[in-house]
Amino acid sequence: MFKKTSTLLVLIGSLMLIIQPVQAGDGTINIDTDKLGAHIPRSLYGVFFEEISHAGEGGLYGELIQNRGFEDANVPPSCLVENGYLIPPRTPHFWIQPKISDWKMRWEVPGQWPGWSLRTSAGGEALLDLVETNPLNQATPHSLQINISRLPENGSVAVVNGGFWGVSIKQGSSYKLSFFARSNNDFRGPITASLVSKDGRVLATNTIEVASSASWKKYESTLTATGTDAKAEFALTFGSTGTIWLDFVSLFPSVTFKNHPNGLRPDIAQMIAELKPAFIRWPGGCFVEGLTVETRAQWKRTLGPIEERPGTYSPWGYWSSDGFGYHEFLQFSEDIGADALYVVNVGVSCAFRSGTFLPDDQVPALIEDTLEAIEYAIGPVTSKWGAVRARNGHPRPFPLKYIEVGNEQQGTLYGERVARFYEAIKARYPEIKVALSSWIAGIDRPAIKAAGKIDIVDEHAYKPVYWAIENFDSFAHYQREGWDLYIGEFATNGRVGRGNLLAALNDSVYMMSMEKNSDLVKMGSYAPLLENTNKRDWQVNLIHFDSSRLFGRAAYYACKLFAENLPSINLATNVEYKPTNARPISGGIGLGTFNTSSEFKDIRVEREGKILYKSDFSKNPEGWKTERGTWVVQDGAYRQSESVTGWSYFGSDDWNNTDVSLKARKLKGAEGFAVSVGNAEGRRVQWNVGGWDNKQHAIQAAEAIIGKSIPGRVEEGRWYDLRIEVRDRHVRCYLDGQLIQEQTLPRVDTVLAIAGKDNNSGEIVLKVVNTGPEVAQVAVQVNGGTRLAPEGKLTLLTSTNPTDENSFEAPKRIAPVTKIIGGIGSKFTYEFVPYSLSIIRLKTR
Ligand code: AHR
Repeated sequence: MFKKTSTLLVLIGSLMLIIQPVQAGDGTINIDTDKLGAHIPRSLYGVFFEEISHAGEGGLYGELIQNRGFEDANVPPSCLVENGYLIPPRTPHFWIQPKISDWKMRWEVPGQWPGWSLRTSAGGEALLDLVETNPLNQATPHSLQINISRLPENGSVAVVNGGFWGVSIKQGSSYKLSFFARSNNDFRGPITASLVSKDGRVLATNTIEVASSASWKKYESTLTATGTDAKAEFALTFGSTGTIWLDFVSLFPSVTFKNHPNGLRPDIAQMIAELKPAFIRWPGGCFVEGLTVETRAQWKRTLGPIEERPGTYSPWGYWSSDGFGYHEFLQFSEDIGADALYVVNVGVSCAFRSGTFLPDDQVPALIEDTLEAIEYAIGPVTSKWGAVRARNGHPRPFPLKYIEVGNEQQGTLYGERVARFYEAIKARYPEIKVALSSWIAGIDRPAIKAAGKIDIVDEHAYKPVYWAIENFDSFAHYQREGWDLYIGEFATNGRVGRGNLLAALNDSVYMMSMEKNSDLVKMGSYAPLLENTNKRDWQVNLIHFDSSRLFGRAAYYACKLFAENLPSINLATNVEYKPTNARPISGGIGLGTFNTSSEFKDIRVEREGKILYKSDFSKNPEGWKTERGTWVVQDGAYRQSESVTGWSYFGSDDWNNTDVSLKARKLKGAEGFAVSVGNAEGRRVQWNVGGWDNKQHAIQAAEAIIGKSIPGRVEEGRWYDLRIEVRDRHVRCYLDGQLIQEQTLPRVDTVLAIAGKDNNSGEIVLKVVNTGPEVAQVAVQVNGGTRLAPEGKLTLLTSTNPTDENSFEAPKRIAPVTKIIGGIGSKFTYEFVPYSLSIIRLKTR
C-alpha cells in the first residue's frame, strides 16, 4: 500500500531543492547509491533436476507408458531382496571404513510387470509371463510373454498400461506409438492399440498388422484422440490365439517441448524455463551417487536409442528409464538458455545409504569417463565423443560450463579424490569450472583443504521455518578464500506444510542473503524442483504435477521473481524496523513423540484460573487432530502407540498465557515426549523432554532450540508430571514439580530488505520481505544523489494467511501481482503488507 508522503519541494532562488523530512513510519530503509556492494553475477539463480518423486519418469520426460521395457521389477545390481527389504552389499562405508553401514530399504514392487495388467472379456483367456529368453537386447533383457489360449468371437484379450497414474489424452492430439514384438507361428495378429477413457470410451484406436515372426520387429503407429481424459489407459488387444512377446512399448505425445523426439512434457518444461535459470544442475543429488556404487548414475548408459538404455535405479525407490539422459539434459539446457552443470560420481555411493565405494585404483577410470563426458558436450566433432554427439544430432557444442565432483560427500579422502579430478579436468579443459560438494549444512573444511584448488564449493541448505530470517546475512561470516560458493540445494522445508507462503518468504530472505553476498555466493538452486503428487519422496518441492495438471508452490514464484529482478550490483542497504508488538505465543496444545511411543493423561489447560480444557480419555478423544503417528485411547490415557514421530493437537488459536499441566509416560522407543503450547510467527513452540536420543531437554520454536538444551532423560514406563506456564513470549517448564528450564522467545526481525542497481535499465531494485503479521510502515530513503522518477513498479507476492498454499484447485492463490505505484521520491513512505515479498523497481532519471 502506498502512503502519500509529506515531501514538500520548495524552489528557493537558485533552484535549490529542500526536502521536508518524511513522517517516520515504524521503520526505515536507507539505500546508499554511492556505496556499491558486490557485483551480482548472472549465474546466481539456476535449477537442480533430480530423478526424485517421479520428477522425470512420469514427469518432465514425455513418455506416457510406465515400465515400457518390462524391467521395473529388476532388483538393482549388487543388491539382494530379503524379507521385503533391499539389502546393499555389506562392504565398508566410505566415511567410516572399515565399518559397514546396516542401511536397507523396503522393497515394495507390485508384481513382476508393474504398470501392466491383463484384461480379458467374454471368455478370452491368456497367461502372462516375464521371460528372459531371446531378449531384444542386453539393455532390456526381459520381455512380456502373452500366451493367448482362448479367444471366442466376441471375447478379447488385452494388456493394459495405466501410464503414470493415468495416461493424459487430449482431444485432437496425436500420440506416437512404437513397440517391439515377436511371436510363434500360431499368432496371426493383428494387434489393436487403443486409448480408453476411465469410463470405458475408446478415445483412439489403430489396428496394426503383426506378421508372425520369431525375431523381434519394431512396429509404429499414430493414435489420434477423439476425446480428453487425464486418466486414460493404453491397451494392446490381440486378434488371435497364440504366443506373442512384447518389449519396449512406448507412447509419446506428438508435441513435446521444442518438438524434440524423445522430448519433454511441454507444460513442465515451460514452467522450468520461466524460472529463467542461469544453469541446470543434473542428474542429482543422491541419484548421482546411487544407493550402492554399482547403481550410480552413468552418463554413457543414457545415450543413444532409448531401447538400448538399461536405466538407473533411483535411490528414491524406482527405476529411471534414462530417457531424459545426458544428451537430453544438455539439449534442454541449450533450449532454455541455461549453462549445464553436470554432477559426476566420485566413486562413492550415497552416504545416507550404503556408502559403498570403488577403490582408489578405479578413480582414474572415473576421471577418464568424466573427461569423455566433457568431450561429448563440448569437444569438436572430430573428437571421439564429439563425433558421437554429432551422430546423435547435435554437431554444435552444448553449453556445458561446470562439473561437480560427487554429491554431499565430506572428509579428506573425498577431497583427495576431488583433487585428482580437478587436475585432470583443468589440464584438458581449463575453461570448465569444477565444484566440490559438501555435506548438508555448512561447508566441509577437511575436504576443501585436501582438494587444494577448487573453483566452487557446493553447500546444501534445507532449513526449518524462520532459520533464514534468524540467520539473515549468515554468508557475511564466511571467509572469502578464492572459491565461489554454490548453494546447490536450498529450501525452507521444516514446519511449512507442503510449501506455504511463509516458506516462500523464508526462501526469499535466504535468496536476499545470497544476493547480498554475491562476492561469495555465485550460484544457487532450490531443491527439489519437481514432484509428481502421486509419489512424493520429499516433503516440500517447487513444482507439483500429475498426469495433466501442474502448479508452482509459493516458493516457485519467489524464485521466479528473484531471477527476473536480478540487479547488476548491490547497493548498501540498511533496515531498521521494530515490530509494534511481537505477538504472544498463542494457539492450542500438542502432544508429540519422536521415534517413540508415549502416552498422556490428566491434561488441563487454564488461563487466569479459568479452565479452557480438561481431558477425559474414558471415551474417544473428541476434537484432537492427529498429524502422523497412531493415536488411540487406552486405559484412560491418550497413546501414540508406535515408535514413530507423531503429533496430536487440541485447542484454539486464541489461547495464550496458559498454564498447561499433564502426565506423560514413555512406553518404548528412542526418545521421550514433547508438548507444544502454541505458535509464534508460525513456529510450533514446544518443550521437548528426553529429546536427542533421550539425552536432552529443550524449549524449541519449530526445530530451533531457544536458549540452551540441558542434559536430561526420561525413564521408560514411568509417569511424569509436566507443567508449562506461558506468559506472553516466556515459557517456564516444570517436571515433577521442579522448574527445569525457562526461556523467552526472542523477537525475529520481521522486515528485511536489500537493494541493487540494474545497470541495463538504470533502475534501483528494492526487495523487501515482511514476515510479520502487521503492516510495516517504512520510510524509504535513497541517498547518494540519484534522482528517482515519481513512479515505480511494484511486484507483490502475498496472501491472507502465512500458511496459505497453492494447490491444483487454486494454483495461483499465491502468485505475483504487479502494479505501478506513484509518489516515489528520494524519501517516501510505504506500507508493506503482512506476510509479503515486495519488489519495487525504482526508475532513475
Ligand atoms: O534434494 C533431495 C536430496 O537432498 C538430494 O538428493 C540430496 O543431495 C539431498 O540430501
